[in-house]
Amino acid sequence: MSKVILGVLTAGALTLGLASAAMAQEGPIKARQACMKANGEMMKVAVPIIKGEQPYDKAALDKVTADAEAACAGWAGWWGEDTKPGGPVETWAKEEIWTDMAGFEAAGAAYGQAFTAVKTAPDEAAFRAAFPALGKSCQDCHEKFRRPKE
Ligand code: HEC
Repeated sequence: MSKVILGVLTAGALTLGLASAAMAQEGPIKARQACMKANGEMMKVAVPIIKGEQPYDKAALDKVTADAEAACAGWAGWWGEDTKPGGPVETWAKEEIWTDMAGFEAAGAAYGQAFTAVKTAPDEAAFRAAFPALGKSCQDCHEKFRRPKE
């Protein structure tokens, strides 16, 4: 192999190494925020239906729940010690996540269960029955584990 090619390969490896060090914090924090934004988009479709301001629309609900599910798929890998508040990447996650990981995981499990019930609701009646537990799961977790955005 020529020296030039070796040089390029080494520079590439260094760049990758630096990028993945930054990703250690930025990746999970940005990813969990993107998951939460997708949850917010889901609520923008679901809440007006619950309030009767919009007609029930299964296709629209299927889309936003599928988007949220996809955006949140990496959840389990996003809460490492290196993603606590106070690091270089701004996060609204509270310290309590790491002092009460069992409580946080229970809140996540309640959300997961409620989400599945909403996502698989076959009709409007089932959707209406399943939705309150989902809304409550967002609120319960945010109250304990999220610092509000001012
Ligand atoms: C198990 C805990 C938990 C559950 C359940 C949860 N959230 Fe969150 N949410 C968080 C945390 C923690 C943050 C802050 C993330 C960060 O900044 O790193 C957050 C942030 C957010 C944000 C702000 C995102 C941004 O950066 O702009 C929105 C919007 C949001 N959540 C909506 C929802 C909705 C809607 C639900 C329910 C469908 C929900 N969340 C369920 C913990 C949770």
